[in-house]
Amino acid sequence: MSGGNTAAGQELPRHIAIIMDGNGRWAKKRGLPRSVGHKAGAETLRRIQAYCHKIGIRYLTGYAFSTENWKRSQEEVNAIMALFRHYLLEAIESLERDHVRLHFFGDMGPISPELLELVHRTDDISAHLPEDYFHANVCLNYGGRDEIVRAARKFAADCAAGRRRPEDLDEGLFANLLDTAGTPDPDLFIRPGGELRLSNFLLWQSAYAEFYFTDTLWPDFTTEEIDRAIDAYRNRERRFGGAK
Ligand code: IPE
Ligand code: IPE
Ligand code: MG
Repeated sequence: MSGGNTAAGQELPRHIAIIMDGNGRWAKKRGLPRSVGHKAGAETLRRIQAYCHKIGIRYLTGYAFSTENWKRSQEEVNAIMALFRHYLLEAIESLERDHVRLHFFGDMGPISPELLELVHRTDDISAHLPEDYFHANVCLNYGGRDEIVRAARKFAADCAAGRRRPEDLDEGLFANLLDTAGTPDPDLFIRPGGELRLSNFLLWQSAYAEFYFTDTLWPDFTTEEIDRAIDAYRNRERRFGGAK
């Protein structure tokens, strides 16, 4: 049964954000290299993306590689970048057919020219697809603090160039300088893998997100688990600081 039809209360979340965590432990449990866990995790992303699209979620954002993940071995980083390449090549072929717009959030500065070219191609394709298509977002070299600093820098540059005055800045204008400009804030924020922390994901945007944590490792994450998270969300009372 789809998450859209189960519990009462809230509407279906418009935007779900997921920290795709637990790939390494999933592989370790099986005596396999971490890269095999990342490959399995990429498969899970494809499955969960298709399912969210099917049940009527409008936006899905996956945290795939953080600004801190460069600390891992070169071998592991290379394996993850190779998976991005594969994912992008597949996306370029399928976005239009599947009615999906794909965007990347993060600092693309340190990304290899080959991968960057594929990111630009997906951006170009997505920009020409209708706005009402499903929005899939992938965070690559993304950090919430880094995103806020880059936005602050853009605003400071606009002020220095005389295009803006400091007093022009408000929350709406600042949000439009973030990577997520134009994307509604996440309603439901899911972290599989058992850790109870944000790890620098969507710090600004998650101000009023509803959190769902589960021990399930990301490669084992199923559509039933998404349904459970959505059911939990629909039973929450969102007050946004107001009173009942
Ligand atoms: C998440 O899985 C994927 C990335 C951070 C790239 P991990 O690789 O962090 O898996 P664990 O947490 O070590 O199990
Ligand atoms: C968060 O997971 C980043 C991604 C899933 C891409 P990590 O595994 O990097 O987070 P920590 O190290 O447990 O905080
Ligand atoms: Mg982890």
